[in-house]
Amino acid sequence: MVDTPAQSNAGDKIDDLAISGRIRFENVTFGYGDVEEDIVLNSINIHIPEGKTLALVGPSGGGKTTLASLIPRFYEVEQGRITIDEIDIRDFDLGFLRRQIGIIQQDVFIFAGTIGENLAIAKPEASQQELIDALKKAEAWEFVSDLPSGLDTQIGQRGVKLSGGQKQRIALARVFLKNPPILILDEATSALDNKTERYIQRTLETLSVGRTTLVIAHRLSTIEKADQILVLSKDGILEEGNHTQLMNQKGFYYHLRQGEATI
Ligand SMILES: Nc1ncnc2c1ncn2[C@@H]1O[C@H](COP(=O)(O)OP(=O)(O)O)[C@@H](O)[C@H]1O
Ligand SMILES: [Mg+2]
Repeated sequence: MVDTPAQSNAGDKIDDLAISGRIRFENVTFGYGDVEEDIVLNSINIHIPEGKTLALVGPSGGGKTTLASLIPRFYEVEQGRITIDEIDIRDFDLGFLRRQIGIIQQDVFIFAGTIGENLAIAKPEASQQELIDALKKAEAWEFVSDLPSGLDTQIGQRGVKLSGGQKQRIALARVFLKNPPILILDEATSALDNKTERYIQRTLETLSVGRTTLVIAHRLSTIEKADQILVLSKDGILEEGNHTQLMNQKGFYYHLRQGEATI
């Protein structure tokens, strides 16, 4: 364990460091309320090595989204700590910390403006060519270049209405632009139909290459390739291993695969 100061001064936060993206949860306990019954995560320990993928599965309400939201500090850990590259995340400047993390969720935030403007929030200084390159990587350039005004097409309120899959591709393009070492995919494709999901899935795999990735998926095909799978429930981490190990264990994950357990 690395020795870190218990306190750090507000003006003393880390905001300039090349992050490789190793993540550790050390005895992390968290609840939304004040009473013990409200505890969602109880003494959780996790290690995601640099560039590896950890998948979280488990029943709805088990705490998967909560666990993920602690990394960008949407909520503060109460006991224990989370580190990135062995540095307590509270020692980073908050803006700097969040620039290291790309998040893709079920709902994509699209505001009234052009496609270019909707992308530029991920990297305000990006050139037109960088926007196009990010769209190409996200396999979104094809539909964007087909629109009447391309990057200058108005979307969102009163603009062109994008499909769910197209919105996800905008979200993917934002993360390619931002190029963070850490990626969180929280049910990113669960609102899409099967065909669109399979199609987006390929791009998500490309996006996660070389990034430390936490993936929360409700469809199990998306987690088979993860380096490590955790089954998280209200009672904590029930099972831990890769797909083959968990299948051989014939526990919760196995039964989930067989369609016997529900999530
Ligand atoms: N913002 C919140 N305020 C209060 N309770 C919450 C909040 N978000 C989630 N919870 C509760 O925390 C528990 C875990 O939820 P969540 O992390 O969303 O689980 P999962 O993503 O595994 O479905 C649930 O009991 C849920 O009701
Ligand atoms: Mg969730």
